[in-house]
Amino acid sequence: MERVVISVGGSVLIPEKNDSEYIRALADVLRGCAESVDIAVVCGGGRIARYYAGIGRSLGGTEYQLDELGIAITRVNARLLSIALGDASAGIATDPKECADKAKGGAVAVMGGTEPGHTTDAVAAMIAREMRADRIINASNVDAVYSEDPRENPDAERFGEMTIGQLKEIVYDDHSACRSCVFDPLGVSMCMEDCRDIYMVNGRDLEELENAILGRPIKGTKVNGD
Ligand code: UTP
Repeated sequence: MERVVISVGGSVLIPEKNDSEYIRALADVLRGCAESVDIAVVCGGGRIARYYAGIGRSLGGTEYQLDELGIAITRVNARLLSIALGDASAGIATDPKECADKAKGGAVAVMGGTEPGHTTDAVAAMIAREMRADRIINASNVDAVYSEDPRENPDAERFGEMTIGQLKEIVYDDHSACRSCVFDPLGVSMCMEDCRDIYMVNGRDLEELENAILGRPIKGTKVNGD
């Protein structure tokens, strides 16, 4: 059986407008796919995490403390997804090893962040290492990887496929926004060491997400790990 780790952006789970129907539909897709693929999901914090971090910063919080706020929100989001999964939830793990162990037998393992200093993309890479996952799927609200921010440069190149070395160049060049760049730099480095593929897809497009989980062709970017 193939093994897959999904990093779902917080902004995908909790967009501007309350959208429990999306989380319900996402859970249905995960439940269906878990019959043929072992699945672990890491939930991001998104807008709500940034909101709390902003308040914490105004109160004089340290980076470490702001990261702790973010982690707390990612864990709340993991709880929401676990509720939506119902019987198909393997429960909420607190570390990558436990998460990898739980992702078996048709049940979907779920978790949020771990420690300060990185984002949930890096947690996905840690779980993938424990699980020896076939691929990581980054489900964000961006449809693919671009050479630059397409909102700022309409001529930015859109990648259908790329090497992990090319992705590394992009994330390490992106000094301005490393914390919220296309994929966490630590996660990219780990996937490079492990020769692991990363599928970058729009997580709001559930057909696209399902194709990525099942290893079918995608509309987004396939990052080749070797
Ligand atoms: P996210 O993984 O959602 O980060 O964690 P992000 O990339 O900034 O958010 P998206 O992808 O745009 O939605 C939210 C915050 O929680 C802290 C970090 O501060 C991160 O920015 N965090 C999360 C950690 O410190 N450690 C973790 O393991 C996870």
